[in-house]
Amino acid sequence: MTTTARSEALFAEARDVMPSGYTRHLVVAKPHPLYAAYGEGCRIVDVDGTSRIDYVNNFTALIHGHAKAETIEIISAQAARLLSAVLPTEWEVKLAQLPVDRIPGVDKVRFMNTGSEAVMLAVKAARAFTGKSKIAKMEGGYHGQFDLIEASFQPSPDQWGDPARPNVVPHNVGTPRSLLDELVILPTNDIERTRARLRAEADRLAAVILDPYRLQMLMVQPRTDYLAMLREETTRLGIVLIFDEVIALRTGYHGCQGNLGITPDLTTMGKIIGGGMPIGALGGSDEVMSVFDVDHGEPRVKHSGTFTANPVSMATGFVGMSLLTRDAFADLAAKGDRLREGLGRVLHDLKVPGRIEGSASLTALILTHEPITNYRELATATSAGLVARMQAWQTLASAEGLLTMRGNFVGSTPMTNDDIDFTIEAVRRSLKRLQSA
Ligand SMILES: Cc1ncc(COP(=O)(O)O)c(C=O)c1O
Repeated sequence: MTTTARSEALFAEARDVMPSGYTRHLVVAKPHPLYAAYGEGCRIVDVDGTSRIDYVNNFTALIHGHAKAETIEIISAQAARLLSAVLPTEWEVKLAQLPVDRIPGVDKVRFMNTGSEAVMLAVKAARAFTGKSKIAKMEGGYHGQFDLIEASFQPSPDQWGDPARPNVVPHNVGTPRSLLDELVILPTNDIERTRARLRAEADRLAAVILDPYRLQMLMVQPRTDYLAMLREETTRLGIVLIFDEVIALRTGYHGCQGNLGITPDLTTMGKIIGGGMPIGALGGSDEVMSVFDVDHGEPRVKHSGTFTANPVSMATGFVGMSLLTRDAFADLAAKGDRLREGLGRVLHDLKVPGRIEGSASLTALILTHEPITNYRELATATSAGLVARMQAWQTLASAEGLLTMRGNFVGSTPMTNDDIDFTIEAVRRSLKRLQSA
């Protein structure tokens, strides 16, 4: 019988010093979170000594899992040489070269410390480039932690409004209305309504931003014809198209845009490009990225930051990304396929209503047959008990040695076929227990 006594005790202490004991809301867990002690390869060990295969990988950031020798080596070496400084280092030049070489929409790059900051800067760049102020995002889209872009991330049905013109719903109490007036919410995968809205707002719209791979982790997939329409309309209407590849970058050597064959004007990146260290990056075409040029006087967008391009993140990112060769992506995809096939077999054998989705190193177990093509369908499935079922399963999977979140299985390079096969059987046992609960 595993114990969680030390986690429980730490949580009691945390409640004295942090609101309700937490400093990130996305990790809230009942009755208390598990506290991590250390990680090793694809496994994470909690403070009570229980080891689980880590299928969250810090919200997809740790594509090389934990404690990779090359990662430890470069962090130690760089920390010993230079932690941060006002002078640029060669590492930022070396790291910038990789997305420039690999990602179709990236001619130039700027760095920052989080994906949220990358999105903030993308918004500024699009506004400066177009001279317009409004930003359009998908209903239910997540692009990080700032008040403009987080609106309408999780609106409830009474807040939705007309599907042709979804309401802009503040994510937090106190968000200024004036800010929300600068946002346009689009219905994912509804080509005609989206096209009409873009045309109606074109004179005020600086950018459309979306994650081209999935919304709400892996739950909603933008269709390729929808993305192609966005590319065509934004080009025609003088609107900047931003692909948020903070997660999606891990789906291929050329990013998600390389897989799709659709090239945005700006690309926001983060997570894997830091090799495990905090990072964000904005890439884009020479034309749009020229808003940062200082060759002819003041830049149109000024951007700096104390820890921007800090050499530890830059060096660790360079080492981590360099290890992600075409072969490494192929191996991640092969392991992902093995997992998806195995999980599909389990659902079939046990006759569990659900399906397996995803590609490359991202896999989702979705415990419903209902189609989910946009945020509203997801919210409807959720109110029909989807989240409750998924959470109940997640607890059972944790007891079987799997750390997962929202049915997502995020792969990492240290995972072996044995780990995948262990996972498939652990899911089989946990689903059987869910059926008999
Ligand atoms: C698609 C997307 N964009 C932006 C962000 C924000 O990145 P960060 O958490 O590094 O600020 C996230 C984080 O999960 C994300 O998933």
